[in-house]
Amino acid sequence: MTTYKFPHNFLWGAATASYQIEGAWDEEGKGESIWDRFSHTPGKIEDKSTGDVACDHYHRYREDIGLMRSLGLKAYRFSTAWTRVLPAGRGRINPPGLDFYDRLVDALCAADIEPFLTLYHWDLPYALHEQGGWTNRDVAYAFADYAALMVKRLGDRVQYWTTFNEPSVVMFDGYLVGEHAPGIQDPQAAYQVGHHLLLAHGLAVQAMRGVAPHLNYGIVLNQWMADPASDDPADIAAAQAAWDQSEPLFLDAIFKGHYPPQVYDLVGENMPIVKDGDMALITQKLDYLGLNYYSRNLVSTAGNVTPVPGSEYTDMGWEVCAPALRRMLNKINDEYDLPPIYITENGAAFPDVVTPDGKVHDERRLDYLKNHFIQTRLAMQDGVDVRGYFVWSLLDNFEWAHGYTKRFGLIRVEYDTQERIIKDSGEWYADVIRKNKVKE
Ligand code: FCB
Repeated sequence: MTTYKFPHNFLWGAATASYQIEGAWDEEGKGESIWDRFSHTPGKIEDKSTGDVACDHYHRYREDIGLMRSLGLKAYRFSTAWTRVLPAGRGRINPPGLDFYDRLVDALCAADIEPFLTLYHWDLPYALHEQGGWTNRDVAYAFADYAALMVKRLGDRVQYWTTFNEPSVVMFDGYLVGEHAPGIQDPQAAYQVGHHLLLAHGLAVQAMRGVAPHLNYGIVLNQWMADPASDDPADIAAAQAAWDQSEPLFLDAIFKGHYPPQVYDLVGENMPIVKDGDMALITQKLDYLGLNYYSRNLVSTAGNVTPVPGSEYTDMGWEVCAPALRRMLNKINDEYDLPPIYITENGAAFPDVVTPDGKVHDERRLDYLKNHFIQTRLAMQDGVDVRGYFVWSLLDNFEWAHGYTKRFGLIRVEYDTQERIIKDSGEWYADVIRKNKVKE
């Protein structure tokens, strides 16, 4: 049996997002977001559910922090709902919303859990959507103001600030495919949105550094590995093309200061309007890069090949392929000059059951996590500077267009009663954190 030991200050954590867990969608002055509107629109969510109540974390955060403590988490990645703080996205502040995050952060610090704050995990204020949403360049400036406001209030306790979670998903799922809020299908809009998200990122980092220069600022991207289906050079080229069309749009802009040349060919007439000085703003120095990793695509000239014979799939239909995480980390590390990396999301949805002993024996999730931890450790031995790991997710929660049909949590949530049950994977994770090592 091999044992994989982690560095002593490795930051083990778990992640969530405001709309997926908080509930209290219109309480204490909170404004409406695009996800409130989207989930209230018939036909958008698989099980016709909404995030109105979700895990009721807004009222139960103390209990949830107690659970984090019992798992021994060293860090907790969460997002703040822009509309709780600024109901219309700019202008009037809603003090109870700011107070909520103040109490949350205080309670985390009291529990000795490092808060890792994400400013935008997809819940744009609806009032800003009515002004064009992310297609409107002006919204990037509103975002930077919101970011500065949050740092002023919480920067004395929150050391790690993430601007955006997965801007590519906002761009593609929100504005190109339309399966996410705001449900738009417009290629031209999508590429402009991508640019405005990057601009907003740069402006926000600049604004936050102006308030608190010494804190850590970063962004969270998601990169699936693209593996060729065979060693046929045509398949290898197809896999490279699939890779080029995904996160390099964001990675090149942020870490190289220009869009990748192949994007110009791909996007053609939908190339966004980029003003003088934008790329310099986007290329702000960052203190960390967050990477979310779930799976890979096996690519051939015929497109993405699924299913892969003999492979296991999660409830999302995503292939389980831990070694691809190591390859992905090495590939990005080789191609860019990066700050330290955190795995900001990794985890798996499986159809859990509560057995008569009242427990959730989720061996498949436990194995998934174990194998991904090991591959991360191997990537670190290869020379990739990974500083921490956030399991997605702390709790079962509202999985966007899938509603409550997918369970990702280390902790089960019974939505009827809001009872929480720590799953076997959660108990096992607590042991990993305690011993700071994983056994194969
Ligand atoms: C990521 C999202 C996160 C969750 C997981 C399963 O893309 O950031 O909110 O939905 O997928």
